Amino acid sequence: MTAIVEVNDVWKRFDSVEVLRGLSFEAFKGETLVVMGGSGSGKTVLLRHIAGLIQPDQGQVKVFGQNIEALSEEELLPIRRRMGFVFQGAALFDSLTIYENVAYPLREHTRLSEDEIRARVVEALARVGLTKDVLPLLPSELSGGMRKRVGIARALMLEPEMMLYDEPTAGLDPTNAHLVSDLISEVQARVCDTSIVVTHDLELARAVATRVAVLIDGRFAALGSRDAVLESDEPAVRAFLTGEATSHRV
Ligand SMILES: Nc1ncnc2c1ncn2[C@@H]1O[C@H](COP(=O)(O)OP(=O)(O)OP(=O)(O)O)[C@@H](O)[C@H]1O
Ligand SMILES: [Mg+2]
Repeated sequence: MTAIVEVNDVWKRFDSVEVLRGLSFEAFKGETLVVMGGSGSGKTVLLRHIAGLIQPDQGQVKVFGQNIEALSEEELLPIRRRMGFVFQGAALFDSLTIYENVAYPLREHTRLSEDEIRARVVEALARVGLTKDVLPLLPSELSGGMRKRVGIARALMLEPEMMLYDEPTAGLDPTNAHLVSDLISEVQARVCDTSIVVTHDLELARAVATRVAVLIDGRFAALGSRDAVLESDEPAVRAFLTGEATSHRV
């Protein structure tokens, strides 16, 4: 098994809050690792370390076999290009049309002609179930579920080797949450076989996970196969999962 992400004894503090406290794990090619954890537990902080957007106070982060914690922005670019990041919230450029939002990575990283860009944008949108009609619209003119799908289309533009999803179903009604969950499974099966999904949506975890990790107090209180973790007897994990099961998708 090839490790795509290797996190080794990572510590990260913001002011007085120690968010990550000696976190270690690996994510392997071909798996969907779902990281669950309560609000403020450090899920987004963890993803930002993997994307090289923040550096650990201590410890190492390896992505695609390369240590990234000490790299410059310039050195990080070719590595970041190999990942598709679907940010928490809509995270589209509000003042750009859907066309320009999805075309953005191609303009940044390639020298394709406008015709080629257009063809690829249309194809990427079709892959997430959206038609040409949305091209001239602004993000504010789409529903939350459609915006999320545009975010996924944009993250797939450069054919990433790994997808990172931050709370992909948060804020969506059950129907749209289900659509996004199906879309993640489809991306997994057909486009990009490795992903890390951060969520507190138990249904999403059940639907897409190969393995599940539960982040509590800056470390994984559990990490194992989906069923082993979701059925775990570990009291802290049980308490977390029971709490999530009774709360709504947020
Ligand atoms: N740039 C920052 N500066 C200061 N504190 C930060 C920063 N980023 C995160 N934090 C703090 O780190 C903790 C973890 O934040 P993080 O956003 O990772 O939580 P989360 O698990 O993603 O929560 P949610 O489920 O609400 O998205 C929080 O206490 C947050 O306030
Ligand atoms: Mg978060």
